[in-house]
Amino acid sequence: MLSGKKIGYCLCGSFCTINAALGQIEVLRDMGAEIIPIISESVQKTKCRFCTPTGIIDRLQLVCSSPPITDIVTAEPIGPQNDIDIMVVAPCTSNTLGKLANGINDCVVTMACKAHLRNNKPLVLAPATNDALGASLKNIGELIVRKNIYFVPFGQDDCIKKPLSMVADLNKVADTVLLALDGRQLQPIIL
Ligand SMILES: Cc1cc2nc3c(=O)[nH]c(=O)nc-3n(C[C@H](O)[C@H](O)[C@H](O)COP(=O)(O)O)c2cc1C
Repeated sequence: MLSGKKIGYCLCGSFCTINAALGQIEVLRDMGAEIIPIISESVQKTKCRFCTPTGIIDRLQLVCSSPPITDIVTAEPIGPQNDIDIMVVAPCTSNTLGKLANGINDCVVTMACKAHLRNNKPLVLAPATNDALGASLKNIGELIVRKNIYFVPFGQDDCIKKPLSMVADLNKVADTVLLALDGRQLQPIIL
């Protein structure tokens, strides 16, 4: 279903969701896509109870044909080369949502997204943040109406203990990608 498609897949520092995201990279690969991995600076350096940088890179190496893109200089050619069909940021942190919404381009993931969007191709975001209904809400609102941007459906994950938190259903990454390649948003977008 995705054979012949090249997917740029960015991992950001929502560490409790990273293992699920790595599983989705495997799903996309099994559907025939070639995956170009891109890992944020925080993913490259953060060791925590959920994962380690080496563990993530080792797992990516099993699925992807090229090593991860890790800096702005290596991400910039994504624009002129114009060979990526769709860019995915899953998980997408509040930090990266804020930068994308406000045109800030100071790191590898925002560079990859900016370079890709210049080619008028789809970008899929999977938000995962404790402040989705707080400080990040205006950024989500800004991005959700923007041309070529699609969201992996997301919802409140614990409305009692974390009333501002929302997380994308990462099991829906592949379905979101399939529709976004066709210029459509998977619905319902809010779970
Ligand atoms: C254990 C751990 C879990 C985190 N989980 C999240 C998260 O789910 N969502 C989020 O927006 N930020 C989370 N953060 C904070 C981000 O990692 C931090 O804002 C980082 O600067 C994000 O950078 P990036 O967007 O370039 O990856 C977490 C940090 C740590 C240490």
